[in-house]
Amino acid sequence: MDRLSGSARLMIVSDLDSTMVDHDDPENLSLLRFNALWEAYYRHDSLLVFSTGRSPTSYKRLRNRKPLLTPDITIMSVGTEITYGESMVPDNSWTQYLNQKWNRDIVIEETAKFPQLTPQSESEQRPHKVSFFVEEVKAMEIMNVLSERLEKCGLDVKIIYSSGIALDILPQGAGKGQALAYLLKNFKVDGKVPINTLVCGDSGNDAELFSIPEVYGVMVSNSQEELLQWYAQNAKNNPNIIHATERCADGIIQAIGNFCLGPNVSPRAIKDFQKCKVDIFSLGHEVVKFYLFYERWRRAEVVSSEQYVQNLKSVFYPLGIFVHPSGVEQPFHQCIDSMTRLYGDKQGHRFRIWVDRVSCAQIGSDTWLVKFDKWELSGDELQCGVTTVLLSLKAEVPDGFTWVHMHQTWLDGSRARDQTVICF
Ligand code: GLC
Ligand code: MG
Repeated sequence: MDRLSGSARLMIVSDLDSTMVDHDDPENLSLLRFNALWEAYYRHDSLLVFSTGRSPTSYKRLRNRKPLLTPDITIMSVGTEITYGESMVPDNSWTQYLNQKWNRDIVIEETAKFPQLTPQSESEQRPHKVSFFVEEVKAMEIMNVLSERLEKCGLDVKIIYSSGIALDILPQGAGKGQALAYLLKNFKVDGKVPINTLVCGDSGNDAELFSIPEVYGVMVSNSQEELLQWYAQNAKNNPNIIHATERCADGIIQAIGNFCLGPNVSPRAIKDFQKCKVDIFSLGHEVVKFYLFYERWRRAEVVSSEQYVQNLKSVFYPLGIFVHPSGVEQPFHQCIDSMTRLYGDKQGHRFRIWVDRVSCAQIGSDTWLVKFDKWELSGDELQCGVTTVLLSLKAEVPDGFTWVHMHQTWLDGSRARDQTVICF
């Protein structure tokens, strides 16, 4: 992970289903709150790691359906596949290592002798993971018998039961916990062990994460019985693990606050930035705050006041230009006028904006280039503009920024159907 030159301030290692993603929340509000917090205060010096039971195919399906940020590291198939960065470069050394005392054919042969095991879909069967569904009442016994039989065949495997339904068979050295231990070992070699690590989960395959030394842990409020039981038997005296009272991503935010790991108020949880000033110098926050305002303006969740418009105009450089992905160039103040007219046009509609991959480069004593992906969900239409903004510190206002210039292009495959209105 070369994005950071030193140790990450915080590394979050989070499960996805029912931890980062709340499948009972069609609006994805807790996830959007986490996203705003992460991009405002953490992205520039921290690491986001997703650790899921899903295969690459099913992980990508989830990403297309939910507003998930781009993680720095993706661990898939219950810790058997590790990839790095946006382009998901696979860690082949990890895969090599997992071949020890593993033979997939033997696992398939032996498991076929248990009619109670229903194989999961083909996409979830991976080189180092064989997965089934099995009823909770039968799970324990099958796991014991199967373990013995595979051992007799000379294999060293790990059998994990999750969510009261899923049974995974992996090499002994695999699993979410082992994959994290491997990452931490590599960070140590590079002298870049994260200052703090927070692991987050809800079900059986996450249990291992909580047994890694020196990490903080949060079991979200909606955690499964099997994880809570594991905790009661193995970790209840560990003060660095909490069972949150909040669901999913809100539980993660709660843990950040509980363990004092950094800012823990999502900009999305702040209704009025005029009244509630944030005392942290952060360009990410500047961008997050602007797009939150934009979303709320169009949803009519802020009052339609001339003062807001004037405030915006004072933040945008009067001669500044917005270059729209279509190539059309428009002075900022004209964009603000267009936006003013759109007040409430998305009221009661599905309309959300979030930013991903915010990165900043200082290019002068008081100027920065800030680059990010701006995602806009409107009804069923999702579009993404890769955006670059030139920001400059205002001499008159402490920590006040001026937006000097802005340029947007469509992310590959993303293009708005309606290009009649040009604004941000
Ligand atoms: C995910 C995977 C599934 C696995 C389960 C528990 O749902 O898709 O294959 O069994 O996690 O680890
Ligand atoms: Mg889960």
